[in-house]
Amino acid sequence: MLLSLFSKTAGAAAAFAAIVLAGMLISSPRGQAQDDGNDDESKIQRGLAIAPVPLNLVGRNRALVGLGSYIVNGQADCNGCHTMNPSTEFTATGNPYLLRSPQGPFMGKTQVNPKTYLGGGSDFGAFPGPGPFPHIVSRNLTPDKTGRPEGGHTFQEFLTIMRTGKDYDHLHPTCTGAPNGTCLPAPFNGELLQIMPWPNFRNLSEEDVRAIYEYLSAIPCIDTIVAGQPQLRNVCH
Ligand code: HEC
Repeated sequence: MLLSLFSKTAGAAAAFAAIVLAGMLISSPRGQAQDDGNDDESKIQRGLAIAPVPLNLVGRNRALVGLGSYIVNGQADCNGCHTMNPSTEFTATGNPYLLRSPQGPFMGKTQVNPKTYLGGGSDFGAFPGPGPFPHIVSRNLTPDKTGRPEGGHTFQEFLTIMRTGKDYDHLHPTCTGAPNGTCLPAPFNGELLQIMPWPNFRNLSEEDVRAIYEYLSAIPCIDTIVAGQPQLRNVCH
């Protein structure tokens, strides 16, 4: 009797456990970008909600785009540097750093300027300081007509940039002679991106870098026109 009672309870417990397990499997997060549990789903939702520009989701992984947006717009502030300059980062009435109306132009709702969003062109000035040195200018991260982000780079190239800072465009090689305004003097490594926080981004998981890449492929193309900065141009059509 005792034994049968026990085995009954054990059986019921096992059945209960099976139901719980099945329930967990069924309710496991949908549309997840990786196997991290429910956290990702809320980040994906939030990412899709906070994107400041319309997204092209055709042929793209919605979960990755959402997660990428969460990282780009909620964590890494890519647009803080990859906009034209601080005065164009927000719309005329959407700059939260300014005084509120009627004292100032801010209307109370932060609005990122879609015309310069991730289009690059922020000039960080002569580097490493005043002198015959090149200016470091943030690059255009928007996709071109191929749909690939930032100048048509493949994911592998993008991963290499984020992990090693490699400058595929060789915009400011290390000086071999006297500084001439276009090369970087030693000890700076001119083959690597300066100012860009890749020594920090290199710690991201490959899934997160993939998500950023997917998101950057879903934002609108911008052709950034700045005199003397042909690398910012982008073929949108
Ligand atoms: C602190 C400012 C800053 C932040 C934040 C920043 N970047 Fe950059 N990034 C730069 C600068 C400046 C360059 C160009 C550096 C140079 O020319 O040496 C650059 C270059 C790049 C390049 C190389 C582009 C090319 O055409 O080879 C990529 C890709 C890039 N950034 C992606 C990102 C992404 C993605 C984020 C956010 C996750 C980000 N950056 C955040 C400043 C920044």
